Amino acid sequence: MKLSMATVDATSLLLAFVFVFVGTAGAVTFEVTNNASMTPGGQRFDVQYGVGHATQVLSEAASFIWTVFNQKETDRRPINVVALTVVDDTFGGIASTGGSAIELSQRYVGGYTGDLEAELTGVLYHESTHVWQWGLQDYAAHWWVFEGIADFVRLKAGLGPAHWVAPGQGSSWDKGYDVTARFLDYCDSLVKPGFVAGLNAMMKENGYSDDYFVQILGKSVDELWNDYKAKYGG
Ligand SMILES: *[C@@H]1O[C@H](CO)[C@@H](O)[C@H](O)[C@H]1NC(C)=O
Ligand SMILES: [Zn+2]
Repeated sequence: MKLSMATVDATSLLLAFVFVFVGTAGAVTFEVTNNASMTPGGQRFDVQYGVGHATQVLSEAASFIWTVFNQKETDRRPINVVALTVVDDTFGGIASTGGSAIELSQRYVGGYTGDLEAELTGVLYHESTHVWQWGLQDYAAHWWVFEGIADFVRLKAGLGPAHWVAPGQGSSWDKGYDVTARFLDYCDSLVKPGFVAGLNAMMKENGYSDDYFVQILGKSVDELWNDYKAKYGG
């Protein structure tokens, strides 16, 4: 009995601490809503992941992304509310992000076989990166850079799934997603505080340019891709 009281107290303290921490980390609020709680996937989300847990993950993802991007509060996108909604999707995918609103498909949650906790946390880190990254006005022209950065963040968080390509794989750097993420991870290792932090900052005004590789790393993206392939015996 005493033990369980102590546990409750510790939890309350932790929640209070988290609230204050979020408040002082730029007054960002994280909101999670299950709009599909009557569906099988929505019920699985509530039972096996949880709205409260998802709120915590969004908060941790934001702090992680700000660290990867090497951003002070004044460098970040001015976002006050990040909202995740579990939806009974019509879009047919896993998840999507528009502005600071993330939607997660209950069908994907319901149909996923494997470690649901790791998968959903990885998806939330990827989508949260879209909330916080600069340059999205250029997404249509250079989508692979933005998807590569989102998967790079997921990779750095230790949440890359087993089905991703191994380092050095892929036919060109602009395939997006895991192929681009592995290449960005190589580029990131070449400079402090990291290539991706510099790239993200440079994309703020006008989006992506190949010249950013030259400006940050002194080599063209094609040279870097050749170096990368050579490193892994490609
Ligand atoms: C969630 O449901 C509410 C109430 O029906 C609705 O107003 C809102 O637009 C829904 N959100 C999403 C993201 O579908
Ligand atoms: Zn994405």
